[in-house]
Amino acid sequence: MRVLLPCLFLLVACPSTVEEPPPAEAPGFPDDFLWGTASAAWQAEGDYDPDPSDGFAVRSNWTVWTERGCVIDAQTNPAGAGFYTKYADDFALAAGLGNNTVRLTIDWARVEPENDVWNEAEVAHYVEVLQAAHDAGLTPMVTFWHWVMPTWVQNPTEVDPLDTLAAPAGPDSFWVQEFEEFVRHVAAEVGEYVDLYSILNEPFSVISAGYLLGGCGSEAFPPGRTLDLRGARGTAANLLFGHAAACHALRELDVTDIDGDGSAALCGMAATNNVMRPADAYNDDDVSGAAKMDWIYNHSFMAALMDGDVDLDFDQAFTTTAADNPDLPIDEGRYPQLAGTLDWHGLNYYGPISVVGLPASSIGGLPSIDVADYDPSLPHSSLGFAIDAGGFGEVLDAFAVYGLPIYITENGLGDPEDADRAMFLVEHLDQLQAAIGRGVDVRGYYHWSLTDNFEWAHGFHQRFGLYRVDFEDPALPRTRNGSADAYQQVIEANAITDDLRSAWIKERYSSDGRL
Ligand code: BGC
Repeated sequence: MRVLLPCLFLLVACPSTVEEPPPAEAPGFPDDFLWGTASAAWQAEGDYDPDPSDGFAVRSNWTVWTERGCVIDAQTNPAGAGFYTKYADDFALAAGLGNNTVRLTIDWARVEPENDVWNEAEVAHYVEVLQAAHDAGLTPMVTFWHWVMPTWVQNPTEVDPLDTLAAPAGPDSFWVQEFEEFVRHVAAEVGEYVDLYSILNEPFSVISAGYLLGGCGSEAFPPGRTLDLRGARGTAANLLFGHAAACHALRELDVTDIDGDGSAALCGMAATNNVMRPADAYNDDDVSGAAKMDWIYNHSFMAALMDGDVDLDFDQAFTTTAADNPDLPIDEGRYPQLAGTLDWHGLNYYGPISVVGLPASSIGGLPSIDVADYDPSLPHSSLGFAIDAGGFGEVLDAFAVYGLPIYITENGLGDPEDADRAMFLVEHLDQLQAAIGRGVDVRGYYHWSLTDNFEWAHGFHQRFGLYRVDFEDPALPRTRNGSADAYQQVIEANAITDDLRSAWIKERYSSDGRL
């Protein structure tokens, strides 16, 4: 920095400027950084039906899944956290934390309860929600697929095993066309309020928990298939082409640039980006399994959506044909309609995954993930996820190479007692701040989640909220957790400071390496 010298009284020739030592690296987050929370429609809204007399039932694949008793304690989800009616109050809570953005979903099952039958009252409802977000000073980011679909798309019952997400699959499949139609139906109205779209949420969570894991009453998701490789690959293909079709539709139909930056519709995907670690760093199978998982989970979709290169047998090549491998729904190769459909990258980070490599033949060439064998050097959340803020920094560096702006679309801790959430938050934001200091282009952070909600296979037992919800009370009241104070203080400082570190980082997590 150059400063002017006060040299009026000097008789000698006075230089107009002088070099000053550069200031210490400015700590903190950019001035225009986005601070928010994320939630998903069905987790926060449940099956709540605003008007049971309108002839539209609110039913989705997850409604059916819970009715079948496939979630812990056979819980169902009548109203989630009550967000459907409490959204304005929740936005006020978020604004009170200092948030300036919020991530939420438009629920396909509500908007199109039957094929080509539109519930316009639900479209109007979401428009009201988006308007209320703006009124509270929160610019919304919108997701169109956070795993929940109408039953005419995926109905996971024995009597009606309909599942168009998995098959047929390909660029113009039924699922792709129908998903595009849903997005087109709401795009113009939503577009008035939104520039940032995290079109899909975590494809690989559904690919693995829906098509590989198997079972009902375990950790599985609908449709609960076991090692269904063709279903997994079909789902991957449909999600890729569905993302691209939705992105092209949004770029065409959303013409309102709400923040005046020249872009009315910016396409992204909220991807689960775990750092993959070999369970045993000296075991070759584990090392190659971790590398393979890294490609599958973290990078294969990036190759498709940045360059158009599709790899459905996950061998890091794009050359296998459906004739070569009967599990492939389409030939691999370059699909130009996919290329360039990411304007930014959405990164969901929860922790590292410890990978055990099995002999390649055991499940069609896919490595298995060992989730039972915890890394004893790491603490774990109540949900069993290993906690490792350092891994967050690693993943951020790994994604910086794509040169896309990054938004942290989710990061949070299952912590029913809110014992460790504040520390988790401050440690992870410290890593984020350091990554930004290293030059990683991160534009925003969405904590998962503002309130407790329905945690998929774990139902109401798992709590991720900065605000606690009393699910026993039909009014679903919210109580502020201590971790909300930590988040608010970070946002106020727009930095992780030494004071915040010493206030919130304890010597160790309560679970201390063991569950
Ligand atoms: C999902 C959320 C979920 C969170 C915590 C993410 O993978 O997108 O819906 O609640 O993890 O498990």
